[in-house]
Amino acid sequence: MTLPIRIAPSILASDFSRLGQEVRDVVDAGADWVHLDVMDGHFVPNISFGPDIIKSLRPYTKAFFDCHLMIAPADPYLEAFAKAGCDGITVHVEAGAHLHRSLQTIRSLGKKVGVTLNPATPISTLENVLDDIDLILVMSVNPGFGGQKFIPAMTDKIRAVKALIGDRPIELEVDGGITADTIGAAAAAGANVFVAGSAVFKGDGIDAYRTNVAALRQAATPL
Ligand code: DX5
Ligand code: ZN
Repeated sequence: MTLPIRIAPSILASDFSRLGQEVRDVVDAGADWVHLDVMDGHFVPNISFGPDIIKSLRPYTKAFFDCHLMIAPADPYLEAFAKAGCDGITVHVEAGAHLHRSLQTIRSLGKKVGVTLNPATPISTLENVLDDIDLILVMSVNPGFGGQKFIPAMTDKIRAVKALIGDRPIELEVDGGITADTIGAAAAAGANVFVAGSAVFKGDGIDAYRTNVAALRQAATPL
């Protein structure tokens, strides 16, 4: 099944002092989704923002809020992120002892259900939940920080996840080190949703973002 190419800027790389305007600008600049990187300083060695900040951003756009929870445990907070206005919620396989329960909870909250794999997490962890999810996120860096380099071995991993997905209507997202130079290989391997932080928010303001988003989209589009 072919799903549309979606460019999902991570606001982790935006100007936190004017987050609402950054969200509005990046969507006006052509972004499809807004990627929200939530970090707890425990599951990953960095702290970003939580549901109250996301709630404050919700009025700035109608675009899909793609929430990537790098927190453990995640279960006690799923409802808060749903109520904050996230459209999709993605949890890490390692975030808790009962992945299937977490996915059921996200579904019951009426949100798109995502699972993410760290670079070293085997694809086999997905085999028994494939019919319970809407999105698979392949981390192409170790989570925690923007601006890292794409791990080349993740291209083959994306290809293998794509094969596992088969005909299911599951979005295949890649996150970390995505630039106009790396996005083509990820797209050719089967990814259709591309998170990019530093490659989108470089330069100054909406005109730069428009150029950056267009360059990514073009490099992801087969000739
Ligand atoms: C990493 C985050 C990514 C990151 C991407 O923990 O999940 O979304 O912000 O940033 P870039 O595109 O700069 O690698
Ligand atoms: Zn992310």
